Amino acid sequence: MYKCALVLAAGQGKRIKSDLPKVLHKVCGKEMLKHVIDSIRNSGIDDIDVIVGKGAEIVKERTLDKNVVYSLQAEQLGTGHAVKCANEFLRDKKGVVAIFAGDTPLIKQSTIEKLFNDHIENKNAATILTSLVEDPTGYGRIVRDDNNQVLKIVEHKDCNEEELKINEMNTAIYCFNIELLVNALEKINNNNQQGEYYLTDVIEILKSQGNQVGAVVTEYEETIGVNSRVQLAEAEEILKDRINLKHMENGVTLIDPKTTYIGVDVVIGKDTIIYPNNIIEGNTEIGDNCLIYQNCRISDSTIGNGVEIQSSVVLDSNVGDNTTVGPFAYIRPESTIGRNARIGDFVEIKKSTIGDGTKVSHLTYIGDAEVGSECNFGCGTVVVNYDGKNKHKTIIGDHSFIGCNTNLVSPVKIHDNTYIAAGSTITSEVNEGDLAVARAKQRNIKGWVEKKGLKK
Ligand code: UD1
Ligand code: CA
Repeated sequence: MYKCALVLAAGQGKRIKSDLPKVLHKVCGKEMLKHVIDSIRNSGIDDIDVIVGKGAEIVKERTLDKNVVYSLQAEQLGTGHAVKCANEFLRDKKGVVAIFAGDTPLIKQSTIEKLFNDHIENKNAATILTSLVEDPTGYGRIVRDDNNQVLKIVEHKDCNEEELKINEMNTAIYCFNIELLVNALEKINNNNQQGEYYLTDVIEILKSQGNQVGAVVTEYEETIGVNSRVQLAEAEEILKDRINLKHMENGVTLIDPKTTYIGVDVVIGKDTIIYPNNIIEGNTEIGDNCLIYQNCRISDSTIGNGVEIQSSVVLDSNVGDNTTVGPFAYIRPESTIGRNARIGDFVEIKKSTIGDGTKVSHLTYIGDAEVGSECNFGCGTVVVNYDGKNKHKTIIGDHSFIGCNTNLVSPVKIHDNTYIAAGSTITSEVNEGDLAVARAKQRNIKGWVEKKGLKK
């Protein structure tokens, strides 16, 4: 059976009160719409059409993905109207289309698979994913007949007193027979409280035509529809718990899961221990046996095995095995730190490579540099990479000893096995085996203090 999916993402989301389209708000570091697209893709459906409208360009730009196409709903006249805007995509297709709202980021792949299977096995015209909730305020209600068969969906604002008491809510995720759906959509109107063309009205139409409509009930936790910032925080908490649980089950110790924020796509090896107050996000991969002490932000980075990081920021960089970072280090994008290296306190590395076994222990800035292995940086070294107009490169060979308080004025090259005297300002090449001294010689003026009458 042919399967495809639509994702409705054209609304601005008034209730979230934002300049950014609602579906681009992030949950655990990823746009809600991207969560939905990824879950659909992971459940084996490749043909996906996203209905965009409000902020169409930015929505497309931030969710661009292979196999995803976009349809435009220029005016947001309701979810039923939104599906009609996918006419081009659905035309001449036979099989099943699943419809999702872009604001239900927690839906699981296994539930999508179950919905499809149920729909196909029971030969339904439509199958609704529903959920039982204590407080269904704001959601459409599933109205069933005496035989427990689904009759229709009534939106919260259109409910009578009896219907308001129903606890089974519409999750806004469904499977439809494509041809029956397209046909039924021709019959919906906007005679309701909100003056919108509701997709939910299609259910009653299909039933009245004698078609079979089914429902799959699932846990509320994965079907939450995010309309407000409060629900956004609720979704964040649910997904955060789910992610943390997965890592703990995989052999990662989280000392305090409550204050550990790990993005959905992060991979962490076993026996790594994560201390409180850490944010690990984006496409980050952390190896085995690492110690991530408190207060780190690690983003889009690859961290090897046995690495220790403490109170530091690592962005879009690689850190090799058994290296230690921090406390209070800042590793900026496009940096590669080797193995067994040390990036110590108040050290900033920017767009640089640091070789294996190199120690940059304290108060140092290294920018646009290539540093070899087994080097030692004294306290307070500065790579002077910017001349006010352009950035320049510094190259340092292996086994170089850079004395404390050295300035390396770029572009400059320091060869292997060199020493630089503390306090030097280096402006020209230092050849292999040499010691460079670039500072004024000390002179002592005898008795100067007394002569000036300053002696106490
Ligand atoms: C919808 C359902 C409701 C269900 C709830 C679950 C309808 C009429 N109601 O209500 O039964 O309980 O979801 O979360 O479908 N959208 C468009 N174009 C439009 C209108 C909406 O693309 O013209 C998109 C929105 O961007 C959003 C999704 O459809 O991603 C759902 O719209 P929203 O306004 O949030 O619907 P709800 O009122 O939550
Ligand atoms: Ca919604």
